[in-house]
Formats: sequence, C-alpha cells, structure tokens
Amino acid sequence: MFSISCHEKEKRVTVVNTNPRITPMPLSLLEKEGSFTMDKKTSFYTNNIEARKIALFFVDIINEKTGLQLQTSDVKKENSIHLLIDSSLELDEEGYFLKTYEDHISITSRTTKGLFYGAQSLIQLFPLIPNHSFIEDIEVKIPSVDIKDEPAFKWRGVLLDVSRHFFTVEFIKKQLDFLATLKINKFHWHLTDDQGWRIEIKQYPKLTEIGAKRGSKKSTVYHGFYTQEDVKEVVAYAKERFIDVIPEFDMPGHAKAILAAYPELACEEKHFEIRELWGVDYNILCAGKEEVYIFVENVIREMAALFPSIYFHVGGDEVPKRNWKESELCQKLIKKEGLKDEKELQSYFMARVEEMLHIHNKKMIGWDEILEGGITETTNIMSWQGEIGGIKAANEGHDVIMTPLDYVYLNFYQGSKHVEPMAFGGHTPLQKTYDYNPIPDAIEENKRHHILGLQGNLWAEQTDNDHIAEYQLYPRLIAIAETGWTMEKNKNFNSFLNRLNNLYPVLDTYEISYHIPLPEGPSSDHIVFLDSVILPFKTTHPVKMIYTTDGSDPTNHSSEYTEALKFKKTTILKIASVLPHGKISKVRTLNIVKQPYLQPVTEAMNLSPGLKIKTIKGHFVNIDQIQREMPAEVSIIKNIKEANNTFDWGHEVKKENFRAVFLEGYIDIPEDGVYYFSSTQDQIWIGDQLVIDYKKTIKKHPEESSIALKKGKHKLKIIYLNNIIKGWASDWNTVELKFRKEFDEEYKVVNENMIFHQNTKGALSLK
Ligand code: ACM
Repeated sequence: MFSISCHEKEKRVTVVNTNPRITPMPLSLLEKEGSFTMDKKTSFYTNNIEARKIALFFVDIINEKTGLQLQTSDVKKENSIHLLIDSSLELDEEGYFLKTYEDHISITSRTTKGLFYGAQSLIQLFPLIPNHSFIEDIEVKIPSVDIKDEPAFKWRGVLLDVSRHFFTVEFIKKQLDFLATLKINKFHWHLTDDQGWRIEIKQYPKLTEIGAKRGSKKSTVYHGFYTQEDVKEVVAYAKERFIDVIPEFDMPGHAKAILAAYPELACEEKHFEIRELWGVDYNILCAGKEEVYIFVENVIREMAALFPSIYFHVGGDEVPKRNWKESELCQKLIKKEGLKDEKELQSYFMARVEEMLHIHNKKMIGWDEILEGGITETTNIMSWQGEIGGIKAANEGHDVIMTPLDYVYLNFYQGSKHVEPMAFGGHTPLQKTYDYNPIPDAIEENKRHHILGLQGNLWAEQTDNDHIAEYQLYPRLIAIAETGWTMEKNKNFNSFLNRLNNLYPVLDTYEISYHIPLPEGPSSDHIVFLDSVILPFKTTHPVKMIYTTDGSDPTNHSSEYTEALKFKKTTILKIASVLPHGKISKVRTLNIVKQPYLQPVTEAMNLSPGLKIKTIKGHFVNIDQIQREMPAEVSIIKNIKEANNTFDWGHEVKKENFRAVFLEGYIDIPEDGVYYFSSTQDQIWIGDQLVIDYKKTIKKHPEESSIALKKGKHKLKIIYLNNIIKGWASDWNTVELKFRKEFDEEYKVVNENMIFHQNTKGALSLK
C-alpha cells in the first residue's frame, strides 16, 4: 500500500502511496501521472476565516498521520494545499473538487462542509505511516488525481441505542472521528427506552435518578446517563465534524423507564420497575391524561435547546395498545375526538407532539408504525420494519429515511450464528448491506427525492461492551456510508472490498475493533466421525483462511486453506481468517473425534411412550446450584414440547415459571449413523455422554453437536433452566431437541414416536 525510501545523506524519508483509494467512492476520480510532495515546507492556503478553521482541523490530523506540522496562510505560496470556498461552483452543497498537481493541491467547494469532505478524501490519499515519530525529515508523496465529488443522499446516518447498554462520551467521540472520515453526517442518539432513560432533564430529575438505573439487586444494577454538559460536548464535537446529532425521545411506548420514575404518567398509576428483560413493555404513556402532554412538552423544551438539529425523533414504534384499551380516560378521548380506534389515538398523540416540536422549529421523525393511524402532512418517516412504510410515505409526499431491518440492522448477525458472537438474530452480512438500494422501484419517479437517505441501526440488547459494538458497526457501516454517498451506478462490491483492505489498517490506527469474516461451514465445533470426515470451510466474503492441526494457534506462516480438509484420526483443528495486512481473526477450534458407535441399551424393558419430567422450582443460573435433595414434581409428558410454559411472548415472564427441568427416558434411534443434535437447552445427555453443554450465558440460539449412535434405544436426559440471564428469558425458547443424520441438510424435531420412559416407579437422578 505504500513504499518507503530512505536517503541516508539528507536523512530524508520519502513515503509514497502506491495504491490511492477513497471510500466512499467519489463521483468521478481520474488518476493522473505524477505526484505532489508534502513536506515540512508545505502550508495550507485559505481564502476566508471559515476555510481556515477547516485547515486548522486538518493541520492536527496531518500531524498525527505524518508528523508534519503544516502552517496556514491567507497568501498563496508554492507547495501549498488550497482550501477555497467558491459560491459560483456548480456542485451540491456537500460536494467538492479535489485536484492534486506537482506543485500544489486544490480543494474547492461552495461550503465549509464540502471543504471538510474534500480534505477527508485528501487524507485518504496519504500513505499509512506507522512509525513517523522516528523520522526526522519526512516527505509524503500524494498521487495526482482529479476528483469531482458529491453525495447521492443527504442523510447518511447511524443509530446508537444507549438505553439497553450505555456508551460513554469518549466512545461516542471516538466513533464520530471515524464516521467523519466516511462522510457520515447524522448521528441518531436513541436516548430513551423501556430499559433506561439516559439524558438529564432538569425539570424531571427522577428520570435519571430512577429511570437510568436498571436492576434491583446491587450486583446487577446497570446505570448510566448523560448530563446536559455531556450532551453539549457530544453535539459540539459532532458539529466540528459536520455531523448532526438527532435525539430520540421514544414515545408513547418504550416508556417503562419514564413510568418507573413518574408512575402518574401511566393510565393506571402503580409501582413500575424499569424493564430488565429485552422486548417491548405493554405499559406506556397514557394518551388520555393531559399531564402526559405537559410532561412531553417540558422534556422537549429542554431537549430542543440542547440539540441544534432541525430533526427530532419521537419514536412511535411498537406501541402495545392494551393500556389504552383498558383506560377510561383514553376511551373518553377517543369518543370526544371522534377517533376510530387506539391507532388513531396514537396519531392524535403524535400530532400533538409534532405541534410542540414546531414551536421549537423542529421537524418530527417517527418510526413507520405511526403510519397506521394516519400522519400529518409534515411528518417524516423512518422505515425500519421493511421498505413498505417508507414507500407508502414517500409516495404520499413525506420525507423518508430508509433503515429496513433486513439490510441495515447492525445488531443482526453478519455471519453464521454458529461462529459469530451472540447477536440479536437476523442476518445482514456485509454484501447484503452493501447491495441495499434505498430507492425501491415502487416509489414513483417524481417522489424519489423524498428518500433522504439511509441509516444503519445498532440496537444494543446483545451489545454490552465497546469492543462488540465496534465489531457490529464495522465494516457494515462503511458499506452504508458508501451507499449513502456513492451514486448507485458507481457502486461495486469487489471494488469496495479492495478499498476495505486499505481501510482495515486505518481502523487499527483508530484502535477500532471490526468484524473479520470467520471460517464458517461446519455448524458445530464437535465433529464426530467413524472412518473419515471431510470438512469444507467458507467465509461470508472472500478472505484467506489459515489453520493448524497440532493444537497451536494459526499464524501468518500456517497452512493456507485451499480445499475441504479431510481427517482420518482424532484432531484438534484451529482455523482462522487473515486479512491482507496480516491481522488474524478470532481462532475457531474444532474437536474432530474418531468415535465408535455408542451401543443402545439392552436392559430397557417395560417402556411406554413419553418422558419423565421432573421440575424443581427456583431461579437457577447454572446446573451446579441444584441440590439432590431439592423437592421436585415428577410426571410424564408425551412430547418434549409439552415442557414449554405458556406465556405472553416477549412481554411478560411469570416468576412462578422459574425452575429447573429434567426430562429423562430413552430416544429411539432409527438407524446406525453419526447424528447431529441441536437445542437451546442447557444439557443434552445421550447414554453417558454430554452431547450438548450450552455454556454461553444467553441461551438464545441453538447449539449443535454430534455423536455416533447404533440403531436402537439410548438413554436420553435433557436439562433445562428456566431463568433470566442478561435480559433474556429462557422461557422465550422453545423446549425441543432436533436431530439430523450427518449428511442431511435439515433438522427434524425429536417427536413423540421417538421418546420412551421406563414404566416403573424408579427414582430419577438429578444430574
Ligand atoms: C425499532 O427497531 N423498533 C425501530
């Protein structure tokens, strides 16, 4: 990517960028012969104070990247970088021209924002110089290019959910630094939700005293909020980087943290706790109470003063209407206003909120659910459930930001669930995100300008630390940045991947974590075989894989994976991916085990259909907490799925459901073979072997493992803890066991014809 040559005599080091690449891809880029040499004599030349501010911003960045300390001047000198505002240019207001010549560089734009983006592109033309502090006299050769650039979309955004997990001001500033290099211009700050209120509101101190603290036990309390000073700091930092900060005050749903602080704002006033579970709470702000509107108005007044952005997000998503249906006040209001139903009541609520925003000259954005009961002419829509809401809104003349979950939800898996760290669910690998076009064909030609752009959303239920947040953000957010900036006709995934290879080392300089495609293929890390096994691996997009079979971690010198690997003896395989600049992914370790068939039981007599079920009440977080002598209820179930509780999915978990469940009996294996089993239960035993031992804290997605079984009946034990860990209720999992033979694609459910129990009064062992 760059070359360094050293001139001993002059102690001068020349660093050349041999691979100039810019991301997002500019509108047009012409590579020319020659280069500009930047050295200690180079200066910035600017034609007004505003342009000078931009130059000063980049003086620091250039110093950081090269060690050079450039001066600024309002007099044109040789060997200078010109940053010039020219209002006569025919360009979008965010656009710029960047031309490099042998003796100077010229960046011109109609606005300071355009100059900022032009300079960001210039920085990307620099070679990466890892250890410049050791170089006394450096000269940096910047290749000659001729660039005209302007964005495809006005809205190029990212959402960060700080309610489910809190992120520090430092973390946010670190991201804003990098987002600015990608020309991302909107930071959507999801500040409030059922699981925590995170912004100081002076008039309502309990919002943060009570509403920002989740959890009742000291050991599990989760706390964090931004003071108004913090908010000002973030907003100012973002502004310097031409990023607007759009606050979200989610209402009337996603409001449990508000109700925990101010229960009088619920339809039925009672004690509320902040929601500790993920999912949506049905307790919401009461649309029938006038004091709710006063509260909203007061909060908006304080927030509007903190956020200069013209846009203000008011949520409106996932609003269960149960409280409103049961509320006399809401029903009275529906009648009085001549509304059809609770959906129209939500529209009434939103319209009143919009009026409050208009007083502060703010434009309202809401999630697409608010279309259900109708919206005002001036409402703007963020389309997340898919594109349908966005299409409808745009065709009706509303401005729309596209954030369809299937393409740009960054809390979704970016690779196989089997190898990736726990994510929310879903599947948005890099190419799917990259290929997303925010203008669906179904939007009429003359309405397309209503699509303001797109945004990647990072919801934080499973994103509980900075490292994993960055891992989920990058590189998919870089793909979103390119879609936001680059014209559809200029987008190309292979070109993007090539440029990404240049950006990975840049991300390293920012100390930002990022996803490297992991070796996928086998769905389990425990592979049993009888004679031999062939294992093919793949990655979500092309990247080199390396591996070892001697138990050591792979290095850059390890064997390269080129074709499926064949094993004839028990082996520990360690396999990883490696990027062109040498960074190695997390290592995947597979135990590949040669195993004889497990023989079926011979003594199984007197069998009847079904399994014995033993349940022990209590909230256990691991199996070791269960004592042998604990009182248990024992009965028979015909089918494994009968072990499921009935519950209100995702909303409520009944405390009386907390328990440990043991299912015991026999499984009838139809023919000899290697079998794979899949389950979200804590342990699956077959014979005396622990086939699945689910060790991850959140038991959300099934684990898989294999065992060689002879036809016939084998002992079966399933152990399952019904608990809540890290916001996930295992009650939300289906109690089931699935199986497949080695070469079958699909799993089948172990059904009532395959399970038996011994028809005696024999005691069940606990473990
Ligand atoms: C959302 O994902 N509920 C906007």
